[in-house]
Amino acid sequence: MILGVPKEIKPQEGRVGMVPAGVHRLVGEGHEVLVEEGAGLGAGIEDREFREAGAELVRGPEEVFGRADLIVKVKEPLPEEFGRIREGQVLFTYFHFAADRVLTDAILASKAFAFAYETLEVPGQGLPLLTPMSEVAGRMAVQVGAYHLEAPRGGNGTLLGGVPGVRPGRVVILGGGVVGTEAARMASGLGAEVTILDIDLERLRDLSFLLPPNVHGLYSNAYAIQQQLAGADLLVGAVLIKGHRAPRLVRREDLNLMKPGSVIVDVAVDQGGCIETCRPTTHEDPTFVVDGIVHYCVANMPGGVPRTSTFALTNATLPFISRLANLGPERAIREDGPLSTAASMVRGVLTDEAVASSFGMEWAPASSAL
Ligand SMILES: NC(=O)c1ccc[n+]([C@@H]2O[C@H](COP(=O)([O-])OP(=O)(O)OC[C@H]3O[C@@H](n4cnc5c(N)ncnc54)[C@H](O)[C@@H]3O)[C@@H](O)[C@H]2O)c1
Repeated sequence: MILGVPKEIKPQEGRVGMVPAGVHRLVGEGHEVLVEEGAGLGAGIEDREFREAGAELVRGPEEVFGRADLIVKVKEPLPEEFGRIREGQVLFTYFHFAADRVLTDAILASKAFAFAYETLEVPGQGLPLLTPMSEVAGRMAVQVGAYHLEAPRGGNGTLLGGVPGVRPGRVVILGGGVVGTEAARMASGLGAEVTILDIDLERLRDLSFLLPPNVHGLYSNAYAIQQQLAGADLLVGAVLIKGHRAPRLVRREDLNLMKPGSVIVDVAVDQGGCIETCRPTTHEDPTFVVDGIVHYCVANMPGGVPRTSTFALTNATLPFISRLANLGPERAIREDGPLSTAASMVRGVLTDEAVASSFGMEWAPASSAL
């Protein structure tokens, strides 16, 4: 099979869908890999590295889309890419169709196969192609939080780790899933006093074994959250209720409980945010202040560290790219459970029930659409 890796064209997107190690493996399995010139530069990967791994470097997206059977990307295709997609071509990338009717209609009209990273499910592992980005965002939440606690950034001037003889800063994390656990790991590593709240008692039990003694697990409810806000220097929002908008756990009036210059990093902003005063921001202008509290609410945090994010993402995607290339789309849908859960569109048929219900559209199971 011929695989194609185009350069991402979404503004501020520096990630790329494959790294040289992926090219090396796929070429070794007998495939050809076309990489658009400059595709890896945003992630610090030179064309030369792709070439040395066995890729054919091609100039411009037309040749990549024109020759490849399987396109491997990071972000959803943008309107200027729609016309390049061919009937029967296979696309493997993040789509988030339910948020974008124009994209949904365009990919259906192209009669391509769409396999979506975000819906690929492995029993017992949840959604393994979303996990790496949550790991990045969780670790980053503490890094950006610590930075914005500095006084010139509007913060209250606390060094999270403290120094000998001075109390460390206090970090409160709402949600002990992937984001929350990684945030707790970073904050505890800095030496902060950390409290992590979750409604899942089993998860809290696991975290008490996984995390060091300067992290305290607390059962989450409105009372416990309000008690914690008073002491917090950094509040991280990391809750998720699958398939739903994030619950509003901190109301505007609760900000009065916090110290002036405290920082909120609401990672859950991409699901509407769990702090009432959060609204999505960008890497160019990441923060705003409400009632003296600094809010950081970047909806695409991994985009700020495209090198790490590229390697984290491709570590997770490569085994599935390889299986999709080796089996082809039809056999993948019939024989590979996880890949069949990623199949959102099959030659013009919508095969994702959740997307269909978002837009009131017809759908059919992927296996029956073949
Ligand atoms: N902003 C970004 O760039 C970015 C990047 C990655 C992930 N995210 C978002 O971060 C959020 C968390 O993702 P995740 O992968 O950690 O999810 P996860 O499912 O692993 O964890 C969510 C946790 O929230 C807990 N929870 C649910 N309701 C709660 C409540 N009322 N109080 C306390 N805890 C509660 C759950 O029990 C679970 O442990 C999601 O909204 C995800 O979309 C954002």
